[in-house]
Amino acid sequence: MDEAYSIGLGNNDTITRKRASQDYIKFWEEEASKLHWFEKWDKILDWNPPFAKWFVNGKINASYNALDIVVQKNPQKNALLWEGENGERRTLTYGELLNYVCKAANSLKSIGVKKGDRVTIYLPMIPELVVSLLACARIGAIHTVIFSGFSSQSIRDRIYDSKSKVIITADGGFRHGTVVKLKQAIDEAISDFDFVENVLVYAHAKIPITLGKKDKIWADLINNASEYCEPEKLDSVHPLYILYTSGTTGKPKGVLHGTGGYLVHLYSTFKWVFDIRESDIYFCTADIGWVTGHSYVVYGPLMHGATQVMYEGALVFPTPARIWDLIERYKVTILYTTPTALRMFMKYGDSLPNSKDLSSLRLLGTVGEPINPKVWKWYFQVIGKINCPIVDTWWQTETGGMMISPVPGLETISLKPGSATMSLPGISVDVVDENGNTLPSGTKGYLVVKNPWPGMLLSLWEDDEKYKTVYWSKYKTMYYSGDYAIKDKDGYFWMLGRADDVLKVAGHRLGTAEIESGFVSHKSIAEAAACGIPHDVKGESIIVFLVLKEGVTPSKQLEDELIQHIRKMVSPIATPVQLYIVSKLPKTRSGKIMRRLLKAVANNENIGDVSTLEDESAVDEIQAIFNELRQTIQRNQIK
Ligand code: WTA
Repeated sequence: MDEAYSIGLGNNDTITRKRASQDYIKFWEEEASKLHWFEKWDKILDWNPPFAKWFVNGKINASYNALDIVVQKNPQKNALLWEGENGERRTLTYGELLNYVCKAANSLKSIGVKKGDRVTIYLPMIPELVVSLLACARIGAIHTVIFSGFSSQSIRDRIYDSKSKVIITADGGFRHGTVVKLKQAIDEAISDFDFVENVLVYAHAKIPITLGKKDKIWADLINNASEYCEPEKLDSVHPLYILYTSGTTGKPKGVLHGTGGYLVHLYSTFKWVFDIRESDIYFCTADIGWVTGHSYVVYGPLMHGATQVMYEGALVFPTPARIWDLIERYKVTILYTTPTALRMFMKYGDSLPNSKDLSSLRLLGTVGEPINPKVWKWYFQVIGKINCPIVDTWWQTETGGMMISPVPGLETISLKPGSATMSLPGISVDVVDENGNTLPSGTKGYLVVKNPWPGMLLSLWEDDEKYKTVYWSKYKTMYYSGDYAIKDKDGYFWMLGRADDVLKVAGHRLGTAEIESGFVSHKSIAEAAACGIPHDVKGESIIVFLVLKEGVTPSKQLEDELIQHIRKMVSPIATPVQLYIVSKLPKTRSGKIMRRLLKAVANNENIGDVSTLEDESAVDEIQAIFNELRQTIQRNQIK
């Protein structure tokens, strides 16, 4: 665990960290002054635990900081170098992007969208997705992006919760050579939602669609919209967006982010972690449907006037060399991707990346899951050619921006493969026990954040109580992240995955409860328990234990039907690798499924105290299944 890699890229700014540790509130104020504010705040932080208001009464606009500020200096600078899966290419300069955003903002206004209204965005990774977020931000509408891999039932729940007045979608998007029918999914999801007034449809895949009376063609509105849209001067705590994410209940949580604090957090972390320079070509492979795309495709890079590659589709299509082709073609200097993607690339062998010119790369990043030391080293040696520092960035949808990461833009530190290193300046992270006491180095515990930070969520959408319960009830004065971690003797953090019932499947966050309620909604299923097992590429994969309703007989046909059902109810991402029909689930006497136990058995850990179990034979049945599974799991693991 202690092996260190020293890499000499980085500055030697000892002052920033020192200032941050002396007074983190004052420190964030200095960082905030680097952004454009229409009016300055009169208080840096109003901390009414667990609710934080940063830069109180400051007036700001996210799209103004992300576009106008850059355009005033250099309107010709390329913002997006976009490539579609089918090879289509588009380039947008900052000047063009601002113009497009203004037209889109005026289009939204023309159909009655006002400050505070919610707009759901369900688009593939195309420039219009970036434009839509920024257009909402420009007029103070709250965007709520739904990942285009989610299916109609998941879309339906999210749109219902946010009561979006307008939806922006496309006819379809491309993925692995097939067309995903987005407009059709929206039609199915909202057929009885009277509160949805308009659906804007961008013609991307050029497939036939049915147009109803709420539908409007994107191009028609844009072509008629005027060229400039005055940015709204918004309160620093005005909600910028809702992003739904999985938690421990069946219903996804609407994480609510504000504007001023969030932007400050992104501005600073993007600069420190990626050491961004004028000449960089940055490429983050995350979809904007997830928080990484919101923070480090849209707001962070654009506020720095970065030029970035944006790609729609699978990184291994039409050949597994696609990712390396993109890096070679666009001379990418910074690559930010996920351990899952890296494990997949690694499987195809070294000859593919070795056959391409990757010499433009100077910095590599990862996010979303723990990275195996073996994969880290491969990234460092084969992709970075021992020249590029790796920034392993730990953060969450709720934190808004990075919290733990090396910061080559500030300082040189020794990297340790598999560790995200230390917390960022101004961020106070720790590992504690059940009672909130700091643990000695080398002891596994819960990762917490001890002070408020600018990018932190405002709350959960229309659910302050749940916000308090989920994040602030285990420890009253510290933010509970839901992650396990260890701090080593040098103060480096090692992430050990989730401590709750959240899975990370291919880097995507999924709640076991969400998967289970998907299964239980099928007419043949009485009970379901989902569980993650280690997977060599995806990090985790899902297995599900099902109890059938009385009179239902198991069959291959039923299993196929159940798989189709979950794909439709949640997402293809939620497809289990295996279904197990069992006669009962391990439950406490009060009837709660003991997931802790499933997880322990799945991970070959001691199952601990089972005295509260209603019927131990349920464990025996599941234990027998796992015993068979274990050998396969072990064979597949990359260490
Ligand atoms: C996990 C993604 C280890 C963690 C930005 C966290 C990580 C969850 C890392 C949040 C990392 C994220 N190393 N684990 N570098 N980054 N995670 O909300 O379990 O999709 O709680 O945000 O991903 O996932 P989310």
